[in-house]
This record gives sequence, structure tokens and C-alpha cells, in this order.
Amino acid sequence: MTDVIRVSPDSPEPAGIAKAAECLRRGGLVAFPTETVYGLGVNALDREAVRRLFAAKQRPTNDPLIVHVTSVDSIAMLALRVPKDVEILARHFWPGPLTLVVPRSPQVPDEVTAGLPTVAVRVPVHPVARAIIDAAALPVAAPSANLFSRPSPTQASHVVDDLGGRIDLIIDGGSTMIGVESTVLDLTSDPPTILRPGAITADMLREVLGRVEIFRAATIEPRPDAALPSPGMLEKHYSPRAELTLFEGPTGTAVPALVNVAREHLSRGRIVGIIAAEEDRDELASLTSDRNALLCIIGSHDAPTDVATRLYATLRDLDSARAHVILVHGFRDDGLGAAVQDRLRRAAAGRVVKA
Ligand code: TXA
Ligand code: MG
Repeated sequence: MTDVIRVSPDSPEPAGIAKAAECLRRGGLVAFPTETVYGLGVNALDREAVRRLFAAKQRPTNDPLIVHVTSVDSIAMLALRVPKDVEILARHFWPGPLTLVVPRSPQVPDEVTAGLPTVAVRVPVHPVARAIIDAAALPVAAPSANLFSRPSPTQASHVVDDLGGRIDLIIDGGSTMIGVESTVLDLTSDPPTILRPGAITADMLREVLGRVEIFRAATIEPRPDAALPSPGMLEKHYSPRAELTLFEGPTGTAVPALVNVAREHLSRGRIVGIIAAEEDRDELASLTSDRNALLCIIGSHDAPTDVATRLYATLRDLDSARAHVILVHGFRDDGLGAAVQDRLRRAAAGRVVKA
């Protein structure tokens, strides 16, 4: 049985927070909202509990977890040494959607870091996440609260769909604000390297740090024997059940290419989910008369924040509507748009049409 407790996102009721904290202290699995996506929390120092978390998510154990704390001072307990950039990054971006990879203290169990010599840490800003971590008085390891390879949850109902019956408690604090996972920045490389793009963009980090590299997962061949800088990055991630194809290019060429492929599927009786921007509406008009074409306009090419907040819920909705295929017109690849494009490319798992 999985209990669900609703709390106010801005000032969560202490009774619900106390239940969550107590459950974490007993080694339980508790899902809660952060500003990015819902996390599935566990006491980061309890090996057994961490193992149960991997089992509940069906997550491969070589994919390390992010440890959540509420103050930069708590990092001293998790890190072997605190890299010099932590202080200035914390001043600019914490609490918030930035995860830092630092050398790991022996206190942190192997189960959390997948045996890596580093640990990922983050100080979330969401009042519910902060209240739970503070009340538990523990470092809380929390991956996104989805089954492995499903899109991350941005609402409590998504967590219920994936993990209902498999975890102890869900704290429902409404929809998350950002909608895509935190930026992961590796501070053990020189210069620091973005392992996963997110709301804290490369430009924002460069303004504070100077040089920052961006790790391109696509340039690395997965090799089972090789130690990877960020193991989770090579998994086929964020995937809806329907096969997703990403069309990259301007509206004038990419959308007609998408429409052609959509027509082909529709003529064979398939249900086709289409994700695009407001600016693409006219080019898509010819499809709207077909009831098997499920058109989802999730924002504008100029407003990646709207697109980010709606993306994962839209993928889940299209799965629920039993779409056989999902065709997406890509969004602008800068700022938060870079995070959206990164997730779409992974969901497409190589099915990218450049038009
Ligand atoms: O926004 C977020 O980061 C959310 C919320 C819940 O905080 N969490 C999240 O966790 O997205 P998860 O487990 O779904 O993704 C964490 C990713 C891993 O897949 C891995 O790529 C990277 O962070 N990571 C964790 N520890 C690492 C380490 N020691 N070195 C390199 N990458 C690491
Ligand atoms: Mg995840």
C-alpha cells in the first residue's frame, strides 16, 4: 500500500512532513516534489534502503543517485574535499536546479554512487523537498520518481501510475515548476563539464566560472567494460511507450516532413501523437480532421519554459491515449531549450530526421 498525502506546495502542513520524515528515518521510500521533477527519496546512508529503491524503480545499479541536502555546509559530510568552485556556484544557484559532482567521502555508500569515486549533490529550492529533508535531518538520495526508462514525473499522479504499491508514501505537492531534471555539472574535471543540461544553462555557468565544457553523450560509444563519466547518461532514457521520432529543422521544412510521416501512419490506421509549437499550427492544419491525429501544442519556440513544464506530462498523456507513434518538431536548442532537446533526443533513441 502506498499512502498519498496532499500538502500545500508553498507552506506544507507539518503533519504530512513529519510522516514523510519518519518514514525516511525508518528506511522507507518517499516520493516528493522538487522544483524540477518528483524525486523518490531514501536515507542516503542506509544501504539496504538504497537497494530497495533501485528495486522499486527497476533501475540498473550502475546508474548513480543524486544526494539532496538543504545547505551547502552539509556537503562537507558527503565530499572527500569540497572543490573551490562549490562556494561561488552555491552563492549563485543554490538552492536550485543544479547538481554538482564532487569527490566522494567514504561515508557515502557504494550503492548510492554506483561505486564511482564521486558523488552528485544538490540543494533543492522546493519548500516541500526542503521541509522533508530538514525534518528527517538526513542526506536524502533521490532519483526521479518514475519506473526506469519512463518519463520523469511532474505530478503526483504520474508517481502513482509508475510506483503505486511499490513505495511507502507519496507527498503530493502539486505540479513541479520546471519540468525537466537538474543540470548536472562535474567539478572533478578541468574545466568543469555539464553532464546533463537543465535550467541552469551553460551560459549562466560560464558567467560565473569562465570555461565550462558540455559533455556530448552521443560522441561516446557505450562500452560495457568502460568506466563512464555519467553512467545514467547512456541509457535509453525518458522514453514513452510509443516510438518517438524527432524532426529537427525550421517549421517550413521540418513540419511538412513530419506531416508526411504522420499521413503514412494514419493511412495504416495508427494513432499518431504530434508534439509541436504554436508557430507550427498552420503547417499542421491538414491533420486536424483525422481523429487519430492527437495534436499537442505545448508552447512557443520562444518560450522554452512552457515547453519544459509540459513535455513529460504530454508524453505520458499520449501513452495513455494509446498513441502508436509520437512525432515531435524539435524546439530551439539554447537556454532551457537545450535541456528539452537533450531529453527529446534521448527519447528518440536515434530516430532523428533533419529536414
Ligand atoms: O532534478 C533532478 O536532478 C531530479 C530531482 C529528483 O532532484 N533527480 C534526478 O535524478 O533526475 P536521476 O537519478 O533521475 O538522475 C541522476 C543522474 C544520473 O542518471 C547520473 O547520470 C547523474 O545524475 N549522476 C549521479 N551521480 C553521478 C556521479 N557521481 N557522477 C556523474 N553523474 C552522476
Ligand atoms: Mg531519472
